[in-house]
Amino acid sequence: MAHDFMPGLAGVPAAKSAISDVDGQRGVLEYRGIRVEDLCANSSFLETSYLLLFGHLPVEQDLSRFVDDVTHHRRIKFKIIDLIKCLPETGHPMDALQAAVAALGMFYPGRNVEDLDNNYWSAVRLIAKVPTIVAAVARMRHGDDHVPPRDHLGFAANFLAMLFDQEPPKVWAHILDVCLILHAEHTMNASTFAGLVTASTLADPYTVVASSIGALKGPLHGGANEEVVQMLREIGRPSRVRAYVDEKLKNKGKLMGFGHRVYKVKDPRAVILQRLCEQLFAEFGPSPLYEIAVELEKVAADYLDAKQIYPNVDFYSGIIYDKMGIDMELFTPIFAVARVAGWLAHWLEQLRENRLFRPEQIYAGEHNRPYVPIDQRR
Ligand code: SDX
Repeated sequence: MAHDFMPGLAGVPAAKSAISDVDGQRGVLEYRGIRVEDLCANSSFLETSYLLLFGHLPVEQDLSRFVDDVTHHRRIKFKIIDLIKCLPETGHPMDALQAAVAALGMFYPGRNVEDLDNNYWSAVRLIAKVPTIVAAVARMRHGDDHVPPRDHLGFAANFLAMLFDQEPPKVWAHILDVCLILHAEHTMNASTFAGLVTASTLADPYTVVASSIGALKGPLHGGANEEVVQMLREIGRPSRVRAYVDEKLKNKGKLMGFGHRVYKVKDPRAVILQRLCEQLFAEFGPSPLYEIAVELEKVAADYLDAKQIYPNVDFYSGIIYDKMGIDMELFTPIFAVARVAGWLAHWLEQLRENRLFRPEQIYAGEHNRPYVPIDQRR
């Protein structure tokens, strides 16, 4: 049954899923039917990961077992560290992450995706080890040794401790944990779709996640959080915002961190991230980038309101990480640390009734052209 061509599959349902839902008109995001605001106020990233993977909030003993399993699988093989050491320091950490995750699967063979118990451990390993890889890449690209996980620390606190080799302020760990909840899942976004295409060939979960990491890197998707901070630094101060926006939009440019295929209002995640900015800056001092961002959101509305283009999840997230002293190149890897949970949830869900993704195309070329010998070509 032929369908009309929809560029970028805009508006085309490619899967049926019970994992998350977005109401783009009302700005509502739910994970397994629970509003993301309620999860940010009451849950943790690991409890939310469990919810996404298995479809329900865990009872006490299941949560503590899952947290223990993830905690005890944070370490990575020394050969992964050696692999990271061989990569150019000037390379982007997303490339290093993708290489390391693809290699990770080589250490856990027997990845028959029909084996549910094996799938549980693959999910645990990926959720547990991706932060360790990101932190190792972050330190080794500056010539520093990687810092092993600290088992007594929670997920977000441990990640910051592996980054900075010291235990973070409790409020930083809490704010990062909420950021991870907000980035964990978002229906059929490009990186989830990329992972599902790979999963539909029955490739192993490490390869699935490596595919998703590749898609997330792009500046139109997860890479936007880094582009936003770059843009704010380029603008330099609030008084320059209007001239920048005018110039950018006049030349048909895009404001990074704005717009969304689904949301026609301000991304509910941006609303929460902005609140986290204010909490962080109240305790740790102001951020010049935040002042510029607030002015940019105000000025952009004059130009983009009519197109229903508002800040998305990437607009305020980098400002938080920047205040914590995290390099800009790590913003998208941090997005990946969280989204591994959503990618794996979709992987597990699709396995139940898998069908190879193999869409059609509209052929726009010629037919029956002759082969011309090279000496007769013009
Ligand atoms: C994420 O899908 C997800 O759920 C993704 C995500 C997730 O959690 O997984 O939410 C995370 O990726 C958020 C998006 C991060 N990307 C950016 O911030 C990059 C900037 N945004 C744009 O590139 C754009 O808004 C997209 C890619 C996000 C969505 O683009 P669409 O839906 O393909 O829309 P489009 O590019 O066709 O634009 C429609 C119109 C165009 O104007 P016209 O040609 O019709 O006059 O809106 C304009 C665009 O020029 N437009 C923008 C704009 N985004 C769209 N104009 C200025 N600045 C922008 N950011």
